[in-house]
Amino acid sequence: MTRTLWTNARVVTADGGIDRGPEPGAIEVLAEGGRIVAVGADLPREGARVVDCEGRLMTPAPVDCHTHLVFGGDRAREFEMRLDGAAYEEIARAGGGIKASMRATREMGIEALVEASLPRLDHLLAEGVSTVEIKSGYGLSVEAELNMLRAARRLEVLRPVRIRTTWLAAHALPPEYAGRPGDYIRDVAIAGLEQAHAEGLVDAVDSFCETIAFSTAELEPLYRKALALGLPVKIHSEQLSHSGGTAFAARFGAVSADHLEHATAADARAMAASGTVAVLLPGAFYMLRETVAPPVAAFREAGVPMALATDCNPGTSPLTSILMAMNMGATLFRLTVPECLAGVTCNAARALGLAGETGRIAAGLSADLALWNVETPAQLVARIGFNPLHARIFQGETV
Ligand code: NIG
Ligand code: FE
Repeated sequence: MTRTLWTNARVVTADGGIDRGPEPGAIEVLAEGGRIVAVGADLPREGARVVDCEGRLMTPAPVDCHTHLVFGGDRAREFEMRLDGAAYEEIARAGGGIKASMRATREMGIEALVEASLPRLDHLLAEGVSTVEIKSGYGLSVEAELNMLRAARRLEVLRPVRIRTTWLAAHALPPEYAGRPGDYIRDVAIAGLEQAHAEGLVDAVDSFCETIAFSTAELEPLYRKALALGLPVKIHSEQLSHSGGTAFAARFGAVSADHLEHATAADARAMAASGTVAVLLPGAFYMLRETVAPPVAAFREAGVPMALATDCNPGTSPLTSILMAMNMGATLFRLTVPECLAGVTCNAARALGLAGETGRIAAGLSADLALWNVETPAQLVARIGFNPLHARIFQGETV
C-alpha cells in the first residue's frame, strides 16, 4: 500500500474549527492506501514517500455540495432579457427558465449530456474539488430524469472525482402536467424515484419549494416516499419568497436546506433542531441581483452549520468556480474567511451526509487534499478570477 507523508505545509484541517493555518511543518499528514492515517507533528517517515509542500497552504479538497451540472442547452438569451428588466419569475411563467433547459435536455442522450457536462466538471476539478453533488431536474419525465443521473454517474467513471446524485424531479411542472401537480408528483417524481432507487442511481431527494414550483402540501407524499426508501432529503427553500419549505424539510430531518434568502430566525431554530445544514448559494443571489441576503446572524446564533456551493446551472448561477463562491459568500453574505472555508469543506461534506468520508483533514477520512500557492485562507478567499491551486490530491493520489 502506498504511504505518503506531506510535510512543510501550512495545514488547515477544518476538523473542529478552522484555524488560520499554522506555521509550515507544524502539522504533517500521513496517508496510506488513499486514507489519512495520521495528522500531527513528527510523523514516522519509514516506507513513506515524503512530499515537501514548501510552505504552501493545505486544506481539505473543496466539496461542491449543490450543482445542476448536467444539463443541455444554454440560457444566455434569458440573461439578456433580465438585463432588459424581465424578472426571473416572469421568464419562468412564460415557458423559459427551467422549462427551457428541460426542452434542450430532453433532446440529448446520455453521451451528449456527458460531453456537455465534462468541461464544467473540469473547471471545478481545476480548483481542487474532490466531490460534486449533481441534481436531476431538467428532464421532468421519468426517462429524461433517469438519463440525467446516468450521465452524472458516468462522470465519476471518466474523472477522478466523487459524485453524489440527487433526485430533483420536483423542480418545475412540465407543460404536459399543467394544472395537475399532484399527478406529476405521483407519476413522475415518485414513480421515477422508485425506479432510480432500484437502479442505484440516487443518493438523496430534493425539490424546489416556491410559488413558481411546488408547495409543501404537494411535496409531502414525495418526502414520505424518500424516507420510506431510506433516502436523505434536501430542499430549495425560501429563495424568492417565504414558502415554508425549510420548516417542512426540517420535519423530515433534511440534511440541508438551500438558498434561504427569505428564511427566518424560526426557520434557523428548526434547522438547528433537525441538524440541517444551511447551503448558501451566492452565485444565484448575484445573478438575480437579489437584495435580501440569507439570515446569517440567525444561523450563527442558532448554531446552524453553513455551507457554500456554486449552484452551477444554466440560468440563475452559471458558476463553475468554488473559489468564486467563497469570495461571494464573504462579500455578499458577509461570512468570515473561516466560515467560507468551512462552507466548502467540512460543512459541505456534512450537507451530503459525507462528514465521515471527506471535507476534513483527520485520521480515517479519505485523503482528499488541496495544496495552494498561497499562505493563508484569506489569500484564497480574497482574490477574484485567480486560481492558485498547486496540486489536487484525491484519495491519496495527486491528480
Ligand atoms: O438552484 N432554484 C431553483 N433551481 C435552480 C435554478 C434553476 C434554473 O433556473 O435553471 C437554482 O437556482
Ligand atoms: Fe439549485
